[in-house]
Amino acid sequence: MPTEDGLSAAGVRLEVSGAVATITLARPERRNAMTGRTWTTLAHVGHALPDSVRIVVVKGEGGSFSSGIDLAMFSPEGAEGEKPLLSTLGDGSLDQAALVETIAGYQEGFLWLRRPGIVSIAAVRGHAIGAGFQLALSCDLRILADDARLCMKEPALGLVPDLTGTKPLVDIVGVSRAIELCLTARTVSAEEARELRLAEAVVEGSALDETVDDLVAGLLGTPAEAAAATKELLLQAPDNTLEEQAEAERRAQVGRLSALARTMRG
Ligand code: ACO
Repeated sequence: MPTEDGLSAAGVRLEVSGAVATITLARPERRNAMTGRTWTTLAHVGHALPDSVRIVVVKGEGGSFSSGIDLAMFSPEGAEGEKPLLSTLGDGSLDQAALVETIAGYQEGFLWLRRPGIVSIAAVRGHAIGAGFQLALSCDLRILADDARLCMKEPALGLVPDLTGTKPLVDIVGVSRAIELCLTARTVSAEEARELRLAEAVVEGSALDETVDDLVAGLLGTPAEAAAATKELLLQAPDNTLEEQAEAERRAQVGRLSALARTMRG
């Protein structure tokens, strides 16, 4: 697990309480802007979480979820303690292959949130911009406060969304709406997010924490192994034919029934 100092330098706070881990983006003075170090640290957190953790709640400190990439990463000096992205490419000190590797490392900070053994929940207040929106999209579930504002800003800055957000966005809203949202880089209100199914629920800001707590309690009411097997099954469904999915259900159920039989035998 990253040290307290490592987490703090990455603008992240981590609390693990029993089966629930809470990751808080903790740079409110920068509206929880994230750097490359934030994402590699999130990847370390994901690798090091104890198996006993079943729920991961991701939230931001203060009134914003996250304002996305720390714009200092594009400045000639770069974000504190990190190589500047553009000038290192320009002066040849970072080649394209190395940058591809670097981005893959950043993506690791987002990918693990989908793994079957956990359910990840984004609790979103205020702005979730660019990388912040992609972080929310990387979570299995999104609960929004009514002041939430989602925006895929990357194309407006000359970039593409590259932190694993395009697939969940298209899966949820469809290709046409995703094109419209990304290529206008417009801001989606909480109400519209609910209509687009980008939010499982939208609640008053004062009720956000309690709503997430209730959801966590509900999720923990299901046995861990059955929950993981069911999530694994559901994750396959969009890419499977009906026949493939029916076969996957059979295989998963045999696994479950065998485990239950072993438990009965003691
Ligand atoms: N990177 C670095 N600093 C930031 C960022 C950011 N992404 N977002 C906000 N800040 C800083 C501001 O510069 C400001 O610093 P200052 O106090 O030294 O002036 C401080 O955080 C507060 O920001 P304000 O703009 O004053 O806060 P406000 O609540 O009015 O607006 C908002 C918040 C909407 C998030 C605005 O700051 C903003 O548009 N930020 C940039 C968003 C952006 O373009 N992100 C990149 C998306 S693309 C991607 O993520 C790959």
